[in-house]
Amino acid sequence: LFAGPVDFLLSAPELHHLPPADRIEVCFAGRSNVGKSSLINALTGRKSIARASNTPGRTQALNFFSMGDRLRLVDLPGYGYAEAPVKLVEQWQATLKGYLAGRPTLRRVFLLIDGRHGAKKVDHEIMELLDRSAVPFQAVLTKADKPAAGTIEKVAEALKTDLARHPAAYPEILTTSSQKHEGLERVRAAVAGLLEL
Ligand code: GTP
Ligand code: MG
Repeated sequence: LFAGPVDFLLSAPELHHLPPADRIEVCFAGRSNVGKSSLINALTGRKSIARASNTPGRTQALNFFSMGDRLRLVDLPGYGYAEAPVKLVEQWQATLKGYLAGRPTLRRVFLLIDGRHGAKKVDHEIMELLDRSAVPFQAVLTKADKPAAGTIEKVAEALKTDLARHPAAYPEILTTSSQKHEGLERVRAAVAGLLEL
């Protein structure tokens, strides 16, 4: 699946721009700057099919990528702080939440959490939104190359306890570094597994 072609499909600033719900979709959600776009690039082996940058609020619409004819990957705008005009941020936050809570073909949300800091209040709000909509999500700790030794294990332990309270959460936590290309195979396998159901 990941060895095949990946093509940018479209960018949806609002819900009426979404493509027809005729493919399985998986999306990458998380706070601004957590590494969503970078993870899509690392997973697909494409340097910058998704645009990444150090500025929080880089991704400002829902970006759809086709993988073959059965699956789409979706790069979401971040939630939380963003360096962009308030009106624009409000619009993309509404689109993001509408998509997360109401997309019939959305099979799994990869919820990215910074491996140095763990889950914050906004992450818990999104987890609750997903619980209410019964949308399955799986936590991914990002930037595993950054934290000091032992930090990520502690973060994972605390997160495991949090996830146990969320009915829509998968118990298994994935850990990745897009920079060092670590942990990518398990994410790829989780995505590929959805096509076999
Ligand atoms: P928004 O679109 O603004 O919500 O951000 P995003 O979640 O898409 O983050 P993005 O992929 O743009 O990455 C943000 C910053 O983190 C960039 O400077 C990346 O180079 C950096 N980054 C992403 N992944 C990693 C990683 O695994 N390790 C390290 N060290 N840095 C990373
Ligand atoms: Mg992004």
